[in-house]
Amino acid sequence: MKIVQTVEEVRTQVKEWKMKGLTVGLVPTMGYLHEGHKSLIDRAVEENDKVVVSVFVNPMQFGPTEDLASYPRDLDRDAALCEAAGADLIFHPEPEEMYKPDFSSFIDMNTLTGGLCGKSRPIHFRGVCTVVGKLFHIVGPDRAYFGQKDAQQLAVIRHMVKDLNFDLEVVGCPIVREPDGLAKSSRNTYLNPTERQAALILYKSLEKGKELIESGERQASVIREAMIRMIETEPLAKIDYVELVDWDTLEPVALIEGPVLNAIAVYIGTTRLIDNHIYERI
Ligand code: PAJ
Repeated sequence: MKIVQTVEEVRTQVKEWKMKGLTVGLVPTMGYLHEGHKSLIDRAVEENDKVVVSVFVNPMQFGPTEDLASYPRDLDRDAALCEAAGADLIFHPEPEEMYKPDFSSFIDMNTLTGGLCGKSRPIHFRGVCTVVGKLFHIVGPDRAYFGQKDAQQLAVIRHMVKDLNFDLEVVGCPIVREPDGLAKSSRNTYLNPTERQAALILYKSLEKGKELIESGERQASVIREAMIRMIETEPLAKIDYVELVDWDTLEPVALIEGPVLNAIAVYIGTTRLIDNHIYERI
């Protein structure tokens, strides 16, 4: 497995593979890889001849008060995980390689990005779309892999690919959880042991929502309120949002009639965690 830092090196390598008729899978990440990322890499290795993992903490998707500086980084560990999983290339650019001093072009989306995480992170998805668009152009993959953990991101990327005619398949992968249910996240490392315990409330409240839907409840407000009440029993938790939205448009639903995304964002202490369930069949 090779680790490269420049666009030029990625292009040279991918060109060589494509000349041989090999297929290429891309797994975009911000590093500090865990089992969630590994599940994406595993799937990419299964479905493609060659796999590129990008490891880039993208400054453009962080707001001014967010955790860009403290975001955990450990390239050696990431490289070991990628190599063991069977990846072929890590693209680990410096910010200056991705954003030249005169950089001024962005991918902005008018739908899907205003609600959920977009409400409290207004510039986030512009940064995500721009960097992912760049990665698609740099690597030119046949398939790109994204986790359902970031469900809004997955929906936004699918939409961007359709709108802008990127010639690739977006593959969505299920959420990988800790044995007790907490969704794996690089940001879980911010939690102290008490907060780690408190963080379970995200999963528990989603299970509560699921239980209500499975028992026939269709009023989104009833489900939402039950979840909010449950989260409020945890003193360390502060709700950012609890929403039930149409899984296609990401618009809030009053009545559950079709595929729905139940998405939540909750601060545990100062750490903002997200989680969700998607109900495909109602
Ligand atoms: P990052 O948070 O590193 O996540 C990289 C990919 O791993 C995303 O597609 C995310 O949904 C997936 N992932 C993270 N935790 C997961 C889990 N527990 N189960 C399944 N998949 C999981 O998302 C980003 O980076 C960035 O926004 C990026 C797309 C790389 C653009 O900068």
